[in-house]
Amino acid sequence: MNYKILSMTLLALGGCAAGASANDAMRFDPGKYTRQTLTMPDGEEVAFKAYEGIAYVTNIEDPTYQTLNIYVPEHLAEIPRVPVLLRTYVGGYMASTAKSPSASDATGRALAEGYVVCIPGSRGSNSTIESNGKTVYTGTAPNGLLDLKAAVRYLRYNDDLIPGDSELIFTDGTSAGGAMSALLGATGNAKEYDKYLRKMGAADARDDVYAAICYCPITDLNHADMEYEWLYGCTNTGVRHLSADQILISNELAAECPAYINSLGLKDKNGNVLTADNYKDYLKTFIMASAHRALQEGCEIPDTIGFTFYQDKGGPMGGPMGGPGNGPRGGMRPPMGDGRQAPSFGPGNAPRFNKTSDFVTGLDLDKYLSYVASMTPLKTPPAFDQMGVLIDTPSPENKVFGNSEGEAANFTDFSLRHRLDNPSATLDAAMVERVEIMNPMNFIGTDKSTVATNWYIRHGAKDRDTSFLVPVNLATKLMNNGKNVDFALPWNRPHSGDYNLDDLFAWIKANLK
Ligand code: DHB
Repeated sequence: MNYKILSMTLLALGGCAAGASANDAMRFDPGKYTRQTLTMPDGEEVAFKAYEGIAYVTNIEDPTYQTLNIYVPEHLAEIPRVPVLLRTYVGGYMASTAKSPSASDATGRALAEGYVVCIPGSRGSNSTIESNGKTVYTGTAPNGLLDLKAAVRYLRYNDDLIPGDSELIFTDGTSAGGAMSALLGATGNAKEYDKYLRKMGAADARDDVYAAICYCPITDLNHADMEYEWLYGCTNTGVRHLSADQILISNELAAECPAYINSLGLKDKNGNVLTADNYKDYLKTFIMASAHRALQEGCEIPDTIGFTFYQDKGGPMGGPMGGPGNGPRGGMRPPMGDGRQAPSFGPGNAPRFNKTSDFVTGLDLDKYLSYVASMTPLKTPPAFDQMGVLIDTPSPENKVFGNSEGEAANFTDFSLRHRLDNPSATLDAAMVERVEIMNPMNFIGTDKSTVATNWYIRHGAKDRDTSFLVPVNLATKLMNNGKNVDFALPWNRPHSGDYNLDDLFAWIKANLK
């Protein structure tokens, strides 16, 4: 009998965990579940106990969202310490209800692996309640994050009652959910959130996590506009077709980015300091690595999108060295660079890549960025804090930084300065604090929080929802601070998540203590 089963048995006999009382509203009820099954894509039937609709705070403001579900496989993994996958379905910074596991994403796969799964709901930009005849928006920042932190605390507080090890929580989310996962990973136990969590009636427990899985995190929101324009400005008069007004804003934003890059003091893996001057070469190494891996997996990459190749025309056994390859590479169905087939680039019969001798030798970054922009039209500047600058429409970020009356808000000084209606407005102290605590970059490498040890970060190589700088900076800052980071820009991937689950679960397995 392992430690966990022994302690659960003792509790069943009338014991109680330290700090918790028997009639405590935050205590998990191990007897309250239904039995459910899930049929996996390969036909395997996975049976599990479902504990659903559990409130994770005592002062519930929004009962539609402030609950979590826990799923415990009938056949727990036979390992000393079973991990818990905490999957958030937050998207677009909107509210998300506590959901059931899905056979087609990481939740179903985790259950099939014998891991415990927790799917919390959380408030978001569109969640409302009626109070005293008025509609109240409940999920403006940082409330969605606070809900997820409260869910982590609930798991910790009930570690003795819930199967799985709350010291092995892996958070997982995509896009705004990827940002939430990054925040959960970066802000563990930070006192900045304490006053809010106490007011909500969150359980009295730690909220640091063991690992964060972040697919295309839409984060570093207060620098994302400048990072977008600094990178994609090269497309402004080409594929992006910006107006003169938009180009002015783009150029001004881009001009603010070098100081930000330099301020980060990041280093590459050889210890060289990254600056705005060498940063693009650093970024290219990740994109080239992505293309190279795709080639090794049998992908044909067109030679029109910026790459140069070394192609050994003599074949693997020798013959004259071919020099940089220049043959057409379009036409074959390219895998995603992660083992799955992607849609074809077009018809044709290009020669196959020679896995043993060909490789990517260079990249014209501007050309590649134009290719990315030609796949999905870029956002217009400012890409995130857009409301009131050149258009009135609020972005998801303007909405989540809005107020309880549902009014969206600006969250950067740049956009406030560029509003025609009130250019002298500045961010108030409350907004400065909200922006600060919604950015994981502010916590990594400081003594403010307990940062997760393990990170799995993916951002598709053709995902233009945020600048490549956002995930690259996040991953690099974590690596520079000694974290175990598995980072890649998977080839041909658009804005998406929970893909290549074989790779993800191999990583999880390799990083279990
Ligand atoms: C999401 C996508 C965005 O482009 C964005 O700005 C915010 C959120 C999302 O898919 O969650």
